[in-house]
Amino acid sequence: MTSGAPEKRRLTILGSTGSIGTNTLDVIRQLGGRDAFEIAALTGNGNVALLAEQAKATGAELAVTADEGQYENLKAALAGTGIEVAAGRNGLIEAAQRDAGWVMAAIVGTAGLAPTLAAARRGADIALANKECLVSAGDLFVAAVHAGGGKLLPVDSEHNAIYQVLEEHQRHAVERIILTASGGPFRQSTLTEMRDVTAATARAHPNWSMGLKISIDSASMFNKALEMIEAKHLFGMRPDQIEVIVHPQSVIHSMVGYSDGSVLAQLGCPDMRTAIGYALSHPARPALNVERLDFAKLSRLDFEAPDEERFPALRLARLAMERGGMQSAVLNGAKEVALEAFIDGRLGFLQMAEVTETVMDAMIAVPAASGMDAVFAVDGEARRIAKTIVEHEAAAA
Ligand SMILES: NC(=O)c1ccc[n+]([C@@H]2O[C@H](COP(=O)([O-])OP(=O)(O)OC[C@H]3O[C@@H](n4cnc5c(N)ncnc54)[C@H](OP(=O)(O)O)[C@@H]3O)[C@@H](O)[C@H]2O)c1
Repeated sequence: MTSGAPEKRRLTILGSTGSIGTNTLDVIRQLGGRDAFEIAALTGNGNVALLAEQAKATGAELAVTADEGQYENLKAALAGTGIEVAAGRNGLIEAAQRDAGWVMAAIVGTAGLAPTLAAARRGADIALANKECLVSAGDLFVAAVHAGGGKLLPVDSEHNAIYQVLEEHQRHAVERIILTASGGPFRQSTLTEMRDVTAATARAHPNWSMGLKISIDSASMFNKALEMIEAKHLFGMRPDQIEVIVHPQSVIHSMVGYSDGSVLAQLGCPDMRTAIGYALSHPARPALNVERLDFAKLSRLDFEAPDEERFPALRLARLAMERGGMQSAVLNGAKEVALEAFIDGRLGFLQMAEVTETVMDAMIAVPAASGMDAVFAVDGEARRIAKTIVEHEAAAA
Protein backbone atom coordinates (compact mmCIF):
# COMPACT_ATOMS: atom_id res chain seq x y z
CA MET A 1 0.00 0.00 0.00
CA THR A 2 1.34 3.46 -0.81
CA SER A 3 1.01 6.48 1.47
CA GLY A 4 -0.16 8.71 -1.39
CA ALA A 5 2.63 11.24 -0.70
CA PRO A 6 4.70 11.97 -3.85
CA GLU A 7 8.07 10.26 -3.83
CA LYS A 8 11.00 12.55 -3.10
CA ARG A 9 13.69 12.90 -5.76
CA ARG A 10 17.24 12.08 -4.70
CA LEU A 11 19.88 14.50 -5.92
CA THR A 12 23.59 15.09 -5.67
CA ILE A 13 25.28 18.41 -6.40
CA LEU A 14 28.94 18.28 -7.40
CA GLY A 15 30.23 21.81 -6.78
CA SER A 16 27.35 22.96 -4.51
CA THR A 17 29.33 25.91 -3.10
CA GLY A 18 29.86 27.61 -6.47
CA SER A 19 27.67 29.94 -8.49
CA ILE A 20 25.76 27.14 -10.26
CA GLY A 21 25.66 25.07 -7.06
CA THR A 22 24.09 27.83 -4.95
CA ASN A 23 21.62 28.66 -7.73
CA THR A 24 20.68 24.97 -7.88
CA LEU A 25 20.00 24.95 -4.15
CA ASP A 26 17.83 28.04 -4.60
CA VAL A 27 15.81 26.32 -7.34
CA ILE A 28 15.41 23.27 -5.08
CA ARG A 29 14.14 25.56 -2.30
CA GLN A 30 11.67 27.14 -4.72
CA LEU A 31 10.41 23.73 -5.83
CA GLY A 32 9.64 22.41 -2.35
CA GLY A 33 12.99 21.96 -0.59
CA ARG A 34 13.18 19.03 1.82
CA ASP A 35 9.51 18.14 1.21
CA ALA A 36 10.24 17.35 -2.43
CA PHE A 37 13.95 16.53 -2.58
CA GLU A 38 16.42 14.35 -0.74
CA ILE A 39 20.09 15.32 -1.03
CA ALA A 40 22.40 12.34 -1.30
CA ALA A 41 25.67 14.32 -1.45
CA LEU A 42 27.06 17.84 -1.74
CA THR A 43 30.65 18.65 -2.69
CA GLY A 44 32.88 21.71 -2.54
CA ASN A 45 36.55 22.54 -2.38
CA GLY A 46 37.94 25.36 -0.21
CA ASN A 47 34.72 26.87 1.11
CA VAL A 48 33.96 24.29 3.82
CA ALA A 49 32.00 26.73 6.00
CA LEU A 50 29.42 27.18 3.22
CA LEU A 51 29.48 23.46 2.40
CA ALA A 52 28.74 22.55 6.04
CA GLU A 53 25.96 25.15 6.20
CA GLN A 54 24.39 23.78 2.99
CA ALA A 55 24.67 20.18 4.21
CA LYS A 56 22.91 21.03 7.48
CA ALA A 57 20.20 23.10 5.78
CA THR A 58 19.38 20.38 3.24
CA GLY A 59 19.93 17.34 5.48
CA ALA A 60 22.47 15.93 3.00
CA GLU A 61 23.71 12.41 3.72
CA LEU A 62 27.30 13.10 2.67
CA ALA A 63 29.45 16.25 2.39
CA VAL A 64 32.75 16.11 0.52
CA THR A 65 35.55 18.62 0.21
CA ALA A 66 37.91 18.04 -2.71
CA ASP A 67 40.68 19.61 -0.62
CA GLU A 68 42.08 16.90 1.68
CA GLY A 69 43.65 19.61 3.84
CA GLN A 70 40.12 20.78 4.74
CA TYR A 71 38.85 17.36 5.89
CA GLU A 72 39.27 18.03 9.63
CA ASN A 73 37.62 21.46 9.34
CA LEU A 74 34.62 19.98 7.54
CA LYS A 75 34.40 17.15 10.06
CA ALA A 76 34.48 19.62 12.95
CA ALA A 77 31.83 21.82 11.32
CA LEU A 78 29.50 18.83 10.92
CA ALA A 79 30.24 17.10 14.24
CA GLY A 80 27.12 15.73 15.89
CA THR A 81 24.91 16.15 12.81
CA GLY A 82 25.14 12.55 11.58
CA ILE A 83 26.21 13.83 8.13
CA GLU A 84 29.00 11.71 6.66
CA VAL A 85 32.19 13.50 5.66
CA ALA A 86 34.80 12.63 3.04
CA ALA A 87 37.60 14.39 1.15
CA GLY A 88 39.81 14.29 -1.91
CA ARG A 89 39.41 12.62 -5.26
CA ASN A 90 38.02 9.40 -3.76
CA GLY A 91 35.51 11.40 -1.77
CA LEU A 92 34.26 13.08 -4.95
CA ILE A 93 33.87 9.70 -6.63
CA GLU A 94 32.01 8.38 -3.58
CA ALA A 95 29.62 11.35 -3.82
CA ALA A 96 29.08 10.75 -7.55
CA GLN A 97 28.39 7.06 -6.95
CA ARG A 98 25.74 7.55 -4.26
CA ASP A 99 22.38 6.36 -5.60
CA ALA A 100 20.90 9.69 -6.66
CA GLY A 101 18.82 9.72 -9.85
CA TRP A 102 19.89 13.26 -10.79
CA VAL A 103 23.34 14.79 -10.48
CA MET A 104 24.21 18.44 -11.03
CA ALA A 105 27.75 18.57 -12.46
CA ALA A 106 28.89 22.04 -11.37
CA ILE A 107 32.57 21.65 -10.47
CA VAL A 108 34.71 24.11 -12.40
CA GLY A 109 37.32 22.81 -14.87
CA THR A 110 38.75 19.36 -15.60
CA ALA A 111 38.58 18.57 -11.86
CA GLY A 112 34.94 17.67 -12.46
CA LEU A 113 35.58 15.12 -15.16
CA ALA A 114 36.24 11.97 -13.07
CA PRO A 115 33.27 12.35 -10.66
CA THR A 116 30.85 13.38 -13.43
CA LEU A 117 31.94 10.41 -15.48
CA ALA A 118 31.38 8.12 -12.46
CA ALA A 119 27.82 9.45 -12.12
CA ALA A 120 27.19 9.02 -15.86
CA ARG A 121 28.48 5.43 -15.84
CA ARG A 122 26.04 4.38 -13.13
CA GLY A 123 23.13 5.78 -15.14
CA ALA A 124 22.27 9.01 -13.31
CA ASP A 125 20.64 11.84 -15.26
CA ILE A 126 23.41 14.42 -15.59
CA ALA A 127 22.58 18.13 -15.49
CA LEU A 128 25.78 19.35 -17.09
CA ALA A 129 27.17 22.78 -16.26
CA ASN A 130 30.78 21.53 -16.14
CA LYS A 131 31.34 21.92 -19.90
CA GLU A 132 34.98 20.85 -19.58
CA CYS A 133 33.72 17.21 -19.41
CA LEU A 134 32.63 17.51 -23.05
CA VAL A 135 35.54 19.66 -24.16
CA SER A 136 38.23 17.34 -22.79
CA ALA A 137 36.58 13.98 -23.32
CA GLY A 138 33.52 14.59 -25.53
CA ASP A 139 33.14 11.27 -27.35
CA LEU A 140 34.03 9.17 -24.31
CA PHE A 141 31.77 11.18 -22.03
CA VAL A 142 28.77 10.95 -24.37
CA ALA A 143 29.40 7.20 -24.81
CA ALA A 144 29.51 6.77 -21.01
CA VAL A 145 26.15 8.56 -20.65
CA HIS A 146 24.60 6.34 -23.34
CA ALA A 147 26.05 3.17 -21.83
CA GLY A 148 24.80 4.18 -18.36
CA GLY A 149 21.32 4.88 -19.73
CA GLY A 150 20.80 8.29 -18.08
CA LYS A 151 19.90 11.60 -19.74
CA LEU A 152 22.37 14.38 -20.50
CA LEU A 153 20.64 17.69 -19.73
CA PRO A 154 22.61 20.80 -20.69
CA VAL A 155 22.69 23.59 -18.10
CA ASP A 156 24.88 26.08 -19.94
CA SER A 157 22.26 28.68 -20.88
CA GLU A 158 23.14 28.52 -24.61
CA HIS A 159 22.94 24.73 -24.83
CA ASN A 160 19.90 24.61 -22.62
CA ALA A 161 18.27 27.06 -25.04
CA ILE A 162 19.15 24.86 -28.03
CA TYR A 163 17.92 21.78 -26.17
CA GLN A 164 14.59 23.58 -25.69
CA VAL A 165 14.14 24.52 -29.37
CA LEU A 166 15.81 21.63 -31.18
CA GLU A 167 12.87 19.51 -32.23
CA GLU A 168 14.02 15.89 -32.10
CA HIS A 169 11.66 14.81 -34.89
CA GLN A 170 13.09 17.58 -37.12
CA ARG A 171 16.74 16.86 -36.37
CA HIS A 172 17.42 15.97 -40.03
CA ALA A 173 16.29 19.50 -41.00
CA VAL A 174 18.65 21.35 -38.65
CA GLU A 175 21.11 23.40 -40.70
CA ARG A 176 22.96 25.28 -37.99
CA ILE A 177 23.00 26.28 -34.40
CA ILE A 178 23.73 29.86 -33.43
CA LEU A 179 25.35 30.44 -30.04
CA THR A 180 24.86 33.93 -28.69
CA ALA A 181 27.64 35.70 -26.79
CA SER A 182 27.34 38.89 -24.76
CA GLY A 183 30.79 40.02 -25.93
CA GLY A 184 31.83 40.49 -22.29
CA PRO A 185 33.33 43.61 -20.70
CA PHE A 186 35.83 44.20 -23.54
CA ARG A 187 33.41 44.01 -26.46
CA GLN A 188 34.27 47.56 -27.49
CA SER A 189 37.88 47.71 -26.26
CA THR A 190 40.84 48.02 -28.60
CA LEU A 191 43.63 45.44 -28.71
CA THR A 192 45.93 47.96 -27.01
CA GLU A 193 43.45 48.45 -24.16
CA MET A 194 42.96 44.69 -23.81
CA ARG A 195 46.68 44.13 -23.41
CA ASP A 196 46.66 45.78 -19.97
CA VAL A 197 43.46 44.47 -18.40
CA THR A 198 43.60 42.78 -14.99
CA ALA A 199 41.60 39.92 -13.48
CA ALA A 200 39.61 42.45 -11.43
CA THR A 201 38.26 44.18 -14.58
CA ALA A 202 37.98 40.97 -16.61
CA ARG A 203 35.72 39.31 -14.03
CA ALA A 204 33.07 42.06 -14.21
CA HIS A 205 30.58 40.49 -16.62
CA PRO A 206 27.99 42.95 -17.97
CA ASN A 207 24.94 40.62 -17.77
CA TRP A 208 25.59 37.36 -15.93
CA SER A 209 26.66 36.73 -12.33
CA MET A 210 29.04 33.73 -12.46
CA GLY A 211 32.12 32.14 -10.85
CA LEU A 212 35.54 33.81 -11.26
CA LYS A 213 37.01 31.53 -13.92
CA ILE A 214 33.99 31.42 -16.24
CA SER A 215 33.65 35.21 -15.92
CA ILE A 216 37.21 35.70 -17.16
CA ASP A 217 36.69 33.02 -19.82
CA SER A 218 33.67 35.03 -20.96
CA ALA A 219 35.76 38.19 -21.20
CA SER A 220 38.34 36.43 -23.42
CA MET A 221 35.59 34.48 -25.24
CA PHE A 222 37.33 31.24 -24.28
CA ASN A 223 34.01 30.38 -22.66
CA LYS A 224 32.33 30.64 -26.08
CA ALA A 225 35.16 28.58 -27.59
CA LEU A 226 34.49 25.80 -25.06
CA GLU A 227 30.78 26.11 -25.78
CA MET A 228 31.34 25.59 -29.51
CA ILE A 229 33.07 22.28 -28.74
CA GLU A 230 30.41 21.43 -26.17
CA ALA A 231 27.70 22.01 -28.82
CA LYS A 232 29.45 19.73 -31.29
CA HIS A 233 29.24 16.84 -28.82
CA LEU A 234 25.84 17.57 -27.33
CA PHE A 235 23.99 18.01 -30.61
CA GLY A 236 26.13 16.02 -33.04
CA MET A 237 26.96 19.07 -35.18
CA ARG A 238 29.81 19.54 -37.65
CA PRO A 239 32.09 22.50 -36.81
CA ASP A 240 30.79 24.43 -39.88
CA GLN A 241 27.23 24.18 -38.49
CA ILE A 242 28.15 26.04 -35.29
CA GLU A 243 27.98 29.84 -35.48
CA VAL A 244 28.63 32.50 -32.85
CA ILE A 245 26.93 35.89 -32.86
CA VAL A 246 27.55 38.69 -30.37
CA HIS A 247 24.28 39.78 -28.76
CA PRO A 248 25.08 42.26 -25.97
CA GLN A 249 21.69 42.12 -24.19
CA SER A 250 21.97 38.33 -23.49
CA VAL A 251 18.21 37.94 -23.94
CA ILE A 252 18.28 35.42 -26.78
CA HIS A 253 20.17 32.54 -25.23
CA SER A 254 20.77 30.72 -28.53
CA MET A 255 19.02 29.65 -31.73
CA VAL A 256 18.53 26.74 -34.12
CA GLY A 257 18.29 27.35 -37.89
CA TYR A 258 16.22 24.90 -39.99
CA SER A 259 16.26 23.95 -43.68
CA ASP A 260 13.13 26.02 -44.45
CA GLY A 261 14.83 29.23 -43.30
CA SER A 262 13.09 29.24 -39.90
CA VAL A 263 15.14 30.16 -36.86
CA LEU A 264 13.83 29.12 -33.43
CA ALA A 265 15.17 30.94 -30.38
CA GLN A 266 14.78 30.69 -26.61
CA LEU A 267 14.60 34.01 -24.75
CA GLY A 268 14.61 35.03 -21.12
CA CYS A 269 16.25 37.28 -18.57
CA PRO A 270 19.86 36.27 -17.93
CA ASP A 271 19.32 34.06 -14.88
CA MET A 272 20.85 30.58 -14.65
CA ARG A 273 17.97 29.38 -12.49
CA THR A 274 15.75 29.05 -15.58
CA ALA A 275 18.18 26.61 -17.23
CA ILE A 276 18.78 24.77 -13.93
CA GLY A 277 15.04 24.48 -13.27
CA TYR A 278 14.48 23.16 -16.79
CA ALA A 279 17.16 20.49 -16.30
CA LEU A 280 15.80 19.58 -12.87
CA SER A 281 12.16 19.29 -13.95
CA HIS A 282 12.59 17.93 -17.50
CA PRO A 283 10.37 17.11 -19.35
CA ALA A 284 7.99 19.28 -17.27
CA ARG A 285 8.39 23.05 -16.81
CA PRO A 286 8.68 24.27 -13.23
CA ALA A 287 7.13 27.46 -11.79
CA LEU A 288 10.07 29.68 -10.90
CA ASN A 289 10.31 33.01 -9.21
CA VAL A 290 12.69 34.65 -11.70
CA GLU A 291 12.40 38.02 -13.44
CA ARG A 292 10.14 38.03 -16.52
CA LEU A 293 11.17 39.67 -19.78
CA ASP A 294 9.55 43.06 -20.31
CA PHE A 295 9.69 43.62 -24.08
CA ALA A 296 8.52 47.23 -23.84
CA LYS A 297 11.47 48.08 -21.61
CA LEU A 298 13.83 46.02 -23.74
CA SER A 299 12.90 47.89 -26.95
CA ARG A 300 15.79 46.53 -29.06
CA LEU A 301 18.02 43.53 -29.60
CA ASP A 302 21.47 44.05 -31.13
CA PHE A 303 23.73 41.64 -32.99
CA GLU A 304 27.27 41.85 -34.33
CA ALA A 305 29.83 39.45 -35.76
CA PRO A 306 32.57 38.49 -33.29
CA ASP A 307 36.01 39.98 -33.91
CA GLU A 308 38.41 37.04 -34.03
CA GLU A 309 41.48 39.26 -34.04
CA ARG A 310 40.65 40.55 -30.57
CA PHE A 311 39.05 37.25 -29.51
CA PRO A 312 41.22 34.49 -31.08
CA ALA A 313 39.75 31.85 -28.76
CA LEU A 314 36.92 31.27 -31.27
CA ARG A 315 39.42 30.50 -34.04
CA LEU A 316 41.26 28.13 -31.69
CA ALA A 317 38.04 26.21 -30.99
CA ARG A 318 37.45 25.70 -34.71
CA LEU A 319 41.09 24.71 -35.16
CA ALA A 320 40.81 22.14 -32.36
CA MET A 321 37.63 20.67 -33.86
CA GLU A 322 39.13 20.53 -37.36
CA ARG A 323 42.36 18.92 -36.15
CA GLY A 324 40.36 16.39 -34.13
CA GLY A 325 42.01 13.80 -31.91
CA MET A 326 42.48 15.17 -28.42
CA GLN A 327 43.23 18.75 -29.56
CA SER A 328 40.20 20.00 -27.60
CA ALA A 329 41.63 18.43 -24.42
CA VAL A 330 44.94 20.16 -25.22
CA LEU A 331 43.15 23.49 -25.72
CA ASN A 332 41.33 23.12 -22.42
CA GLY A 333 44.34 21.97 -20.33
CA ALA A 334 46.59 24.73 -21.70
CA LYS A 335 43.85 27.36 -21.30
CA GLU A 336 43.27 26.39 -17.65
CA VAL A 337 46.98 26.91 -16.86
CA ALA A 338 47.04 30.22 -18.75
CA LEU A 339 43.86 31.36 -16.98
CA GLU A 340 45.31 30.62 -13.53
CA ALA A 341 48.51 32.48 -14.49
CA PHE A 342 46.40 35.48 -15.62
CA ILE A 343 44.42 35.44 -12.35
CA ASP A 344 47.73 35.39 -10.41
CA GLY A 345 49.08 38.30 -12.48
CA ARG A 346 51.83 36.23 -14.16
CA LEU A 347 50.39 36.42 -17.68
CA GLY A 348 48.72 39.15 -19.73
CA PHE A 349 45.10 38.92 -20.88
CA LEU A 350 45.93 38.44 -24.58
CA GLN A 351 48.73 36.02 -23.77
CA MET A 352 46.20 33.40 -22.62
CA ALA A 353 45.31 32.67 -26.26
CA GLU A 354 48.95 32.85 -27.37
CA VAL A 355 50.04 30.26 -24.78
CA THR A 356 47.08 28.02 -25.65
CA GLU A 357 47.82 28.12 -29.39
CA THR A 358 51.53 27.43 -28.85
CA VAL A 359 50.68 24.33 -26.80
CA MET A 360 48.12 23.19 -29.40
CA ASP A 361 50.76 23.50 -32.15
CA ALA A 362 53.31 21.64 -30.02
CA MET A 363 50.83 18.76 -29.55
CA ILE A 364 49.35 18.78 -33.04
CA ALA A 365 49.73 15.03 -33.51
CA VAL A 366 47.65 13.84 -30.52
CA PRO A 367 45.47 10.90 -31.62
CA ALA A 368 41.80 10.30 -30.77
CA ALA A 369 41.22 9.27 -27.15
CA SER A 370 41.53 5.52 -26.59
CA GLY A 371 40.23 5.87 -23.03
CA MET A 372 40.11 8.19 -20.06
CA ASP A 373 43.75 7.47 -19.13
CA ALA A 374 44.78 8.87 -22.51
CA VAL A 375 42.68 12.00 -21.90
CA PHE A 376 44.24 12.59 -18.48
CA ALA A 377 47.74 11.99 -19.92
CA VAL A 378 47.20 14.51 -22.73
CA ASP A 379 45.63 17.02 -20.33
CA GLY A 380 48.70 16.61 -18.05
CA GLU A 381 51.15 17.07 -20.90
CA ALA A 382 49.33 20.18 -22.18
CA ARG A 383 49.48 21.65 -18.67
CA ARG A 384 53.19 20.81 -18.33
CA ILE A 385 54.06 22.57 -21.60
CA ALA A 386 51.81 25.52 -20.78
CA LYS A 387 53.44 25.94 -17.35
CA THR A 388 56.91 25.98 -18.96
CA ILE A 389 55.81 28.71 -21.40
CA VAL A 390 54.16 30.73 -18.62
CA GLU A 391 57.34 30.56 -16.49
CA HIS A 392 59.38 31.68 -19.48
CA GLU A 393 56.99 34.57 -20.19
CA ALA A 394 56.93 35.62 -16.52
CA ALA A 395 60.75 35.59 -16.35
CA ALA A 396 60.97 37.68 -19.53
CA ALA A 397 58.44 40.30 -18.32
N1 LIG B 1 28.26 30.31 -13.23
C1 LIG B 1 27.53 30.21 -14.32
O1 LIG B 1 26.60 31.01 -14.52
C2 LIG B 1 27.80 29.14 -15.34
C3 LIG B 1 27.04 29.11 -16.51
C4 LIG B 1 27.25 28.07 -17.41
C5 LIG B 1 28.20 27.11 -17.17
N2 LIG B 1 28.94 27.17 -16.04
C6 LIG B 1 29.95 26.14 -15.82
O2 LIG B 1 29.64 25.50 -14.58
C7 LIG B 1 30.84 25.10 -13.92
C8 LIG B 1 30.85 25.75 -12.54
O3 LIG B 1 30.90 27.16 -12.71
P1 LIG B 1 30.68 28.16 -11.49
O4 LIG B 1 30.60 29.51 -12.09
O5 LIG B 1 29.55 27.69 -10.63
O6 LIG B 1 32.08 28.00 -10.73
P2 LIG B 1 32.47 28.44 -9.26
O7 LIG B 1 31.52 29.46 -8.74
O8 LIG B 1 33.91 28.77 -9.30
O9 LIG B 1 32.24 27.09 -8.42
C9 LIG B 1 32.99 25.94 -8.69
C10 LIG B 1 32.64 24.82 -7.77
O10 LIG B 1 33.64 23.79 -7.93
C11 LIG B 1 34.36 23.61 -6.68
N3 LIG B 1 35.76 23.38 -7.01
C12 LIG B 1 36.71 24.28 -7.33
N4 LIG B 1 37.89 23.66 -7.58
C13 LIG B 1 37.67 22.34 -7.40
C14 LIG B 1 38.50 21.19 -7.47
N5 LIG B 1 39.80 21.27 -7.80
N6 LIG B 1 37.95 19.98 -7.23
C15 LIG B 1 36.63 19.88 -6.90
N7 LIG B 1 35.79 20.94 -6.78
C16 LIG B 1 36.31 22.15 -7.04
C17 LIG B 1 34.14 24.89 -5.91
O11 LIG B 1 34.33 24.69 -4.52
P3 LIG B 1 34.65 25.92 -3.49
O12 LIG B 1 33.69 27.01 -3.81
O13 LIG B 1 34.39 25.31 -2.16
O14 LIG B 1 36.07 26.31 -3.69
C18 LIG B 1 32.68 25.19 -6.28
O15 LIG B 1 31.81 24.35 -5.57
C19 LIG B 1 31.99 25.54 -14.83
O16 LIG B 1 32.37 24.49 -15.64
C20 LIG B 1 31.37 26.65 -15.67
O17 LIG B 1 32.00 26.79 -16.92
C21 LIG B 1 28.76 28.14 -15.13
